[in-house]
Amino acid sequence: MFNHFKKREKMERAVENILERYPNPKRENLIPILQEIQDREGFLSEGAIVKVGQRLKLPASKIFGVATFYNQFRFEPLGKYHIQVCRGTACHVLGSSSVLEELEKQLNVKAGQTTKDRLFSIEVVACIGACGLAPVISVNGEFHAKVTSDSIRDILDEYKEKAGEGVENEG
Ligand code: FES
Repeated sequence: MFNHFKKREKMERAVENILERYPNPKRENLIPILQEIQDREGFLSEGAIVKVGQRLKLPASKIFGVATFYNQFRFEPLGKYHIQVCRGTACHVLGSSSVLEELEKQLNVKAGQTTKDRLFSIEVVACIGACGLAPVISVNGEFHAKVTSDSIRDILDEYKEKAGEGVENEG
């Protein structure tokens, strides 16, 4: 409980620091403000949205509505392992949509969401500059090349094991 309050306090301070840079915030500052908060905190919490609303004199529901319209915003913390699925042209042509589909199926979350155990989160991104490895995914910045729906289980198992939650009786 104490930890929760500390985290909340830290988030509120971070949001205030960002808002201080916009002494007279206007409606057009909303997206840049939300973007900065997300860059700093990893996601937009309810508390952050309420705070921004108070400063911009907009109801939180309005801000939430605007933010959901842009699919770059997240409303849950990232997982311990954040998976980026490239949807650039090369990856798309070589099957990134079935890679994403398989990931969503195995983790039981959609792109933009985090698994309940907070181990994995998925994000769909534009070209990550490794087209020769297509289709490629990155997990916490580590690239996995020529991913297929069959190789996904192994990749996920590798990270589950790293997290100490994998099944260690393989082989
Ligand atoms: S298109 Fe996927 S890395 Fe460039």
